[in-house]
Amino acid sequence: MKILVVGGGGREHAIIKSIRKNPNVEKIYACPGNGGIAKDAVCVDIGAKDIEGIVRFAKSEGIDYAVVAPDDPLVLGCVDELEKAGIPCFGPKANAAIIEGSKVFSKNLMKKYGIPTASYEVFSDAEKALEYVRDCPLPTVVKADGLALGKGVIIAFTREEAEKAVREIMKDRKFGKSGDSIVVEEFLEGPEVSVLAFTDGKSIRPMVSSMDHKRACDGDTGLNTGGMGTVAPNPFYTEEVAEECMRKIFIPTVNAMNSEGREFRGCLYFGLMITKNGPYVIEYNCRFGDPETQVVLPLLESDLLDIMIATTEQKLDEADVRFSSKKACCLIMASRGYPLSYEKGFEISIPECVEDNVYVAGASVRDGKLVTSGGRVLGVVATADTLKEAVKESYRMAALIDFENAYYRHDIGKRALDALEG
Ligand code: AMP
Ligand code: GLY
Repeated sequence: MKILVVGGGGREHAIIKSIRKNPNVEKIYACPGNGGIAKDAVCVDIGAKDIEGIVRFAKSEGIDYAVVAPDDPLVLGCVDELEKAGIPCFGPKANAAIIEGSKVFSKNLMKKYGIPTASYEVFSDAEKALEYVRDCPLPTVVKADGLALGKGVIIAFTREEAEKAVREIMKDRKFGKSGDSIVVEEFLEGPEVSVLAFTDGKSIRPMVSSMDHKRACDGDTGLNTGGMGTVAPNPFYTEEVAEECMRKIFIPTVNAMNSEGREFRGCLYFGLMITKNGPYVIEYNCRFGDPETQVVLPLLESDLLDIMIATTEQKLDEADVRFSSKKACCLIMASRGYPLSYEKGFEISIPECVEDNVYVAGASVRDGKLVTSGGRVLGVVATADTLKEAVKESYRMAALIDFENAYYRHDIGKRALDALEG
């Protein structure tokens, strides 16, 4: 089979390394891929948002199956267009990807179907929003409606911060059209859990849970990032919590999307907060998480491509979806300065002994050498019988990798280990 993976980050690298294990796979292409992915797939210089270009390429190459991984192409209808061209895909169509593409949509969906989430108000008028935040309980959470590169959520502890957030999103149009509307919601507290789940619109098969580390610096301080590391499984996601999530959140979400005529097929990401009143949905994503995927897929014991195809063909209930009982840790090595400005173009040295454990996110090839080209440069992933060993091993491997201005957190997994020991 010829497979096309749309995207070019660490998540796509993890998906490609996993798909490669399927004996029916002859060739994998990535649009656009990256310098590290080039070792495992043929990278094609077509951007992930260039839907026309992707479809043209897929047709001309005779692609048998496509995996659309990032949010942008999914929301833009990449799966719809590939399917129209006769190419089966993994990923939701645009009318279902809206579950991530519009926070107003997802909040209204949860309210309508009684899925636990923070209480909220929606505004499309900046003045009304400003009036509201002058008087609402604090802290409060201001969210741009549309996609905003993971930066559209502001937690405001003071009135000034809340007003500034509303102004920046709605008046200064910091995120463009994504700020046409905003959600202002109740601030919740509790540990966060990410759960990725395969769903074909009929059944849902959750993967092993994980914990992201979103802040740039140790001790969960500094700016929000795309994610500085992950561990799996997440110790706060106990069997009891998992059962409650299945009953109150996962199945109701699949059913709600069906009732709305927006059947979701692909990977549905549940960003959960385990509050004292039980699990609440913080956000939905219409795709695999990054860097959650880098810890979840290495623990998958059954075949990823087979599961993906079963999802597309709506035979997920018959698929073999099995995870190892091992633990995993992914440590992100970033360019110093990320998520703000940073220098790039530095040569990266990865010893051969750790290459299999590295998922490349922001690197390109220059004069035959791998050089940094992004904020999050790569993820180093270790699996072991205990989380403690996995964390230790990923730090040991990271110390063997070298590039100028490399930056990583020193406490990935600490919160999870404290919970396990506490
Ligand atoms: P998101 O971009 O939706 O993942 O939100 C980014 C982060 O903001 C989440 O991972 C949470 O840590 C935090 N967050 C979002 N909504 C809330 C909320 N209602 N209460 C507390 N924290 C929140
Ligand atoms: N790691 C969070 C996300 O993929 O959105």
